[in-house]
Amino acid sequence: MTDSVFVTRLIPDEGLDIIKKRFRTSVWSADMPPSPQEIVERAKQCSGLVSLLSDRIDESVISLLPKLRVIAQYAVGFDNIDVTAATKKGVIVTNTPGVLTETTADLAWALIMAASRRIAEADRYVRAGFWQVAWGPKLMLGIDIHSATLGIIGMGRIGAAVAQRAKGFGMRILYFDTQDTDFARAVEKETGVIRTDFASLLSESDIITVHVPLTNETKKMIGADEFARMKKGAVFVNTSRGAVVDEDALVTALSSGHLHAAGLDVFVTEPLPSTSPLLRLPNVVFVPHIGSASFATRSRMAVICAENLVLAMRGNRPPNIVNPEVLVHR
Ligand code: DGY
Repeated sequence: MTDSVFVTRLIPDEGLDIIKKRFRTSVWSADMPPSPQEIVERAKQCSGLVSLLSDRIDESVISLLPKLRVIAQYAVGFDNIDVTAATKKGVIVTNTPGVLTETTADLAWALIMAASRRIAEADRYVRAGFWQVAWGPKLMLGIDIHSATLGIIGMGRIGAAVAQRAKGFGMRILYFDTQDTDFARAVEKETGVIRTDFASLLSESDIITVHVPLTNETKKMIGADEFARMKKGAVFVNTSRGAVVDEDALVTALSSGHLHAAGLDVFVTEPLPSTSPLLRLPNVVFVPHIGSASFATRSRMAVICAENLVLAMRGNRPPNIVNPEVLVHR
């Protein structure tokens, strides 16, 4: 065992064991993520790093890890890593796509249903003892999901899995994607989703769900103008990345009553600060970035992450490399 690996959190044993068997492994065992300085401190002698989306692996961190050859991200999103800086230094970056598609689509649907039908609010109402009249003609009215128009922003794997589920609700399904891909065309054939422009998706959808990665292009792609274009009474769901949305504009759209409700798994700052004005809004359903959080999926993510790491450390091409251009210079 000549190579050392630093794992920035206790990932499931199924993956950790693979890593421990092959490399001198040090694991950050605290619940709070390590700071960039702590990552540098612990990974200084390491050629492999297993990172989470809450670890900031920017140029300054990468430049202080002289032995680093591989960053294996335990997530599909990798906006926390400066991939350009890694590539410049010849460091392979991998992620865990595919494995969490269905689980994340399940959660997007949980939020669509909870926000549309006020499930979290109704739960709080019953627990607080406010349910005093047996049946109220106007109690907790929500919006129908069946037969509604669903707008999917981003037709990648997760967007497609959300569309599959929408078929069962007899919905009209619109989608917007900047790219016209064979994959999206196949989803159109299979599910009947209709490609549309961004403005039409915003103005025609009853429920809008976001499934784009965070990039310079998608940062704040949904702000005041976009919320204003949405139908009055629309539901907005985000399980992608918080920074895709202008959160202040979302607060305004929700508190003014323009939007019926929102279901949010992701936030600009995570954990969501207790001072966030979102927390004062009864029509928001919150979950703490748990899109991929099922027992089975998190275990499979750990195995895939570990396998990517092992292959890349051995000089082989890992299946989920995000910067294949790095191999050209080797
Ligand atoms: C990811 O893998 O990027 C997800 O956000 C994790 O839940």
